[in-house]
Amino acid sequence: MPIKLTIPMPDDWHLHLRSGEMLRKVLPYTSGHFARAIVMPNLPSPVVTRHDALTYQQEILRYLPKGKSFTPLMTLYMTENTDPNEVRLGFLTGEVTAVKLYPAGATTHSNAGVKDLEKIYSVLEVMEEIAMPFLVHGEVVDTNIDIFDREAVFIETKLMPIRQRFPKLKIIFEHLTTKEGVDYVLSCDQNTAATITPHHLVINRNAMLVGGLKPHYYCLPVAKRELHRLALVKAATSGDARFFLGTDSAPHLTTAKESDCGCAGIFNVANAIAVVTQVFENENALNQLEKFLSINGANFYQLPINKQRITLERFSESQPIPEDIKTAEGIVKAFDPMMDVCWKVV
Ligand code: DOR
Ligand code: ZN
Repeated sequence: MPIKLTIPMPDDWHLHLRSGEMLRKVLPYTSGHFARAIVMPNLPSPVVTRHDALTYQQEILRYLPKGKSFTPLMTLYMTENTDPNEVRLGFLTGEVTAVKLYPAGATTHSNAGVKDLEKIYSVLEVMEEIAMPFLVHGEVVDTNIDIFDREAVFIETKLMPIRQRFPKLKIIFEHLTTKEGVDYVLSCDQNTAATITPHHLVINRNAMLVGGLKPHYYCLPVAKRELHRLALVKAATSGDARFFLGTDSAPHLTTAKESDCGCAGIFNVANAIAVVTQVFENENALNQLEKFLSINGANFYQLPINKQRITLERFSESQPIPEDIKTAEGIVKAFDPMMDVCWKVV
């Protein structure tokens, strides 16, 4: 008897879809396994207005494979000039689901991000009032802070003051990578949640640095030491309503990653659900899987749980790593989790 698991169709609460040819190539992986995704706004020219969001959403829908009912949930890129009324209108019309904060300089295409958080307080006030999720890339950018400490320092110096000033604001700490982050979320009430990526559940920084420099394991925030990975696994598999999947799948061409100044990002959607399921099985926590993949996020976003369902099958043998994607501009490597993964979406 094959072992099968059927759960409500998952959502991806943090996804980079890019645009043009790259979008066309990566979208079928997402629309094959996920019903909805929170689409990141960090295009080379960022998505800052409702008009930008609608234009981008139309582009995504144009590339959607026929017969798929995937919904791209759009986000705005927070700048120091973001208009609170634009945000309010975007949320109330349903055109925009959330606003994303990139501290200026923190990551790919974040130059238009925020330097002085006080400049966005008027936007946060509105978001708190209308219960619109505020998505946070939680890393400080000060050059004198060690890259492995940037998340922990962000919590102390940036996030705590925001939380204190806006106690009801719905904050999602994106792509959590540290034990400090997990502990912080657990210390908060139900207005704070966090997304966790498949890769941070299975790799620590050794994957990137031992036995040679491995650019395909470089992402931001960078993977930390093992104790942090273990804290993330414990949080994800606990079933706690504040933790849910955000793949942070971020495709880059191999030429851009294997370079003097390699780009941050891992393309993982093709095996994201399989990898996460294996992690849950390894922790004896398959009974919590659907909360992490399909329920907690929808509840936090106050969206319905998907009616569609997907089935996962467990094979006796480890399944092959998904094939690399070939685009007109070059290749995108799929995530190799460096562990046996016997599950597959069927
Ligand atoms: O690794 C990352 N890649 N982290 C981010 O925050 C951005 C992303 C991208 O857009 O490439
Ligand atoms: Zn991201």
